[in-house]
Amino acid sequence: MTITEFKTACSAIEQEYKAKIAAAADLAAVEELRVAALGRKGALTDLLKGLKDFSMEDKKVAGPLGNALKGALSAALEEKTAFFAAKQINDELNKTCLDLTLPAFPAPQGHRHPLSVAMDRMTTILAHLGFEWAEGPWVEDEKHNFDMLNIPKHHPARDAQDTFFADTGSPISMVLRTHTSNVQSRFMEKHRPPLRIMAPGRVFRNDSLDATHSPVFHQIEGLYVDKNVSMADLKQDLTAFMKGLFGNKAEIRFRPSFFPFTEPSAEVDVKCVFCQGKGCPVCKGSGWIEMLGSGVVHPNVLKNCGIDPNEYSGYAFGMGVERLAMMMMNINDIRTFYENDVRVLSQF
Ligand code: PHE
Repeated sequence: MTITEFKTACSAIEQEYKAKIAAAADLAAVEELRVAALGRKGALTDLLKGLKDFSMEDKKVAGPLGNALKGALSAALEEKTAFFAAKQINDELNKTCLDLTLPAFPAPQGHRHPLSVAMDRMTTILAHLGFEWAEGPWVEDEKHNFDMLNIPKHHPARDAQDTFFADTGSPISMVLRTHTSNVQSRFMEKHRPPLRIMAPGRVFRNDSLDATHSPVFHQIEGLYVDKNVSMADLKQDLTAFMKGLFGNKAEIRFRPSFFPFTEPSAEVDVKCVFCQGKGCPVCKGSGWIEMLGSGVVHPNVLKNCGIDPNEYSGYAFGMGVERLAMMMMNINDIRTFYENDVRVLSQF
């Protein structure tokens, strides 16, 4: 074989195999071509065997030529193999219901519900003030929701207009708890003072839904029982809490009120954070917004739980989470929290 013949044979092999590789129908066909071109008995291998009869000078030309061809064919085979491998994966995915045409970014991302965010901030502040987490059942017996809390049988709070009675089939009359105060009776029944707890959770009242009312809402109960606990402790702790929530300028005031389970009782107002007490539509011109009910735990409640009211005293408060969250986040309709409109929720 002359060097010219070698060159011609090289381009013939290149042409033939490049065309065949391009036309290969599947992975098996590509593999067959690899063997036929580059295998031990392949066309190129065969041709290169002739090199040994060339003169030194011709070898210097033919060697690199042969190697270049080998490289070119290997690359073509590899490319075709990769193409079929990818195609196989694609075909596999197409059999499932993955939509590969969906844009990859930005992937829609969920985040926490504004009420959870608000609850978290409130309970974190209370935890810093030394309150321990406690919980109670949503479906509660009348004993813990009412009786033990000094709410007598005839008290209007029990009225079917306010309370959801739960038909559980049990002979004990059950209700959906109307406040988190059931955790007071549950906890004091089992624990001795000193005790300091917060009880966040869902409560239920037979109210119709409007901008400020919802049949399901959230409260955080606070309870502190020890020796010599007074209204002054309550005022100090609630002031610290509100400052934590609304900043150092936050101010609170007590208004006399009534709850069967506290004596004396007080409603706590917070100076309107929108107008700093000057009066605006949110506080209806008064400069103050009602935030929670509170008071000194009634001796009867302590007694009902087996705690001696001559030795111990305590304070309790129950605050509406939605109301505080609406203030924190400048939301003016409670329904915002429950409609779960992503366009609204994603703003918080
Ligand atoms: N349970 C009362 C309510 O639901 C709030 C409250 C709790 C008042 C504790 C005093 C003490 O409105």
